[in-house]
Amino acid sequence: MGTPHIEAQVGQIAKFVLMPGDPLRAKVMAEKYLTNPKLVNRVRNMFMYTGTYKGVPITIAASGMGNASMGIYSYELFNDYDVDYILRVGTCGAYNKDYRPYSVFNTKDSYGESQFAKIVTRTHQEILPAAKEMFDTIAETAKELNIPLISGRAHASDVFYRSDNSLALAKEKHLDVVEMETYALFANAIKLNKKAAALFTVSDNLVTGEVTTSQERESKFTTMFELALETALK
Ligand code: HPA
Repeated sequence: MGTPHIEAQVGQIAKFVLMPGDPLRAKVMAEKYLTNPKLVNRVRNMFMYTGTYKGVPITIAASGMGNASMGIYSYELFNDYDVDYILRVGTCGAYNKDYRPYSVFNTKDSYGESQFAKIVTRTHQEILPAAKEMFDTIAETAKELNIPLISGRAHASDVFYRSDNSLALAKEKHLDVVEMETYALFANAIKLNKKAAALFTVSDNLVTGEVTTSQERESKFTTMFELALETALK
């Protein structure tokens, strides 16, 4: 028995889940890093793979794009599959002109512009924290691996094609990067008493206009992924 959106059996999903947005990224990363990766969800092509990394069971599960999609999958993983930890691994745009493409960003907290958290938790908070324990473990692990890390506040935007100037919003709300999923992820973790955090590779800079190519992204994404996997072992 699965959920409305996931066909895996209970027990086929590990306690620690890494969540890229892109299903094909989940497939590529599972095949590259996991021992005996098993495809446990194919519904809507939202691929989820479970295997082991250095002997520890890990699931790599796609979230899709946006708070709405992340909201569905993270809720079901936490609530129906008894997942304890979700670490989102994605890309973000930088509002800070000093953030270069391919920098790795550890999310301290997330600003959401929607009612998502209010509807899930009944209390409106526009800024939600990552699990401190996970945030700190990521920082320690990065230090051990000599991976430079920046950290701060993510804007979990609901709209990619905006008519407002999100740089003005970034200034007002002290936002460092923009992506589209952490607000829903953190709201669900808080609601269900679970732990969530998020790592990003900077894919573009909204101030300087610097961008990355999709080909480059494929190879450079691995630094963040290795950091995420090593964090999962702790
Ligand atoms: N906006 C929203 N999400 C993103 C962006 C962006 O510019 N870059 C990477 N994810």
